[in-house]
Amino acid sequence: MRKKIVAGNWKMNKTFDDAYELVEAIAEKMETLAKPEHEVVICPPFPFLEMCGDMSQESFFAVGAQDVSEHESGAYTGEVSAAMLKSMEMDYCIVGHSERRAYHNESNEAIANKVKQLLANDIRPIFCCGEKLPEREAGTQFDVVEKQISESLFGLSADEFANIVIAYEPVWAIGTGKTATPEQAQEMHHHIRSLIEKKYGHDTADNTTILYGGSCNAKNAKELFANPDVDGGLIGGASLKADDFVTIIESL
Ligand code: PGA
Repeated sequence: MRKKIVAGNWKMNKTFDDAYELVEAIAEKMETLAKPEHEVVICPPFPFLEMCGDMSQESFFAVGAQDVSEHESGAYTGEVSAAMLKSMEMDYCIVGHSERRAYHNESNEAIANKVKQLLANDIRPIFCCGEKLPEREAGTQFDVVEKQISESLFGLSADEFANIVIAYEPVWAIGTGKTATPEQAQEMHHHIRSLIEKKYGHDTADNTTILYGGSCNAKNAKELFANPDVDGGLIGGASLKADDFVTIIESL
């Protein structure tokens, strides 16, 4: 049975004290998870990983980073390696977010390398994919997502792939307040699951967690998560408010 996950992507928000307050408020409002098969992941900026990791010890949530270097170690000023994240006991790491693809020119190949670094260090990648508005308007969204997934993930063995979480995030929905309809989300998630089935077989496809991201909030989460192929969400803006984030977790 696949895990249902709500992950909060804080992006480049909060200072240390604000971050502490937010995690504390989330932890207080949700002393335990309603269902043990659900997982909550908080992905703060790098400087707050240690604090969030410490707070997660006594709480119900897991912690993840927002990015990782595609290199193992060495002269890469400003980069953070998967081994560093592992040494801080990180459980997850977002890779291939559309903001990194757009502002840092991340290619499918670079993202494939990041995925490999994470898997070599036992960290579960939350792999983001999704089409831009003109691509959806041209009706090419399924091909775009297939290319992203096949070029970055389909070089993995079935055992390696079993550790991947996929987040479908249509770029036109991120931070815009324009959410995909539940039908659009279900249609793409079903497409993604059938690609995985074709490559790795039914069981792997059935066990893969596929999250929706893009203006998912306390109001629309329940309707989105009710779809059979939507296994939770990757939440940006709404993960910065404890009440909203907890409502989204409770919508699983
Ligand atoms: P949003 O961001 O919820 O603010 O749209 C989601 C994401 O980029 O992961």
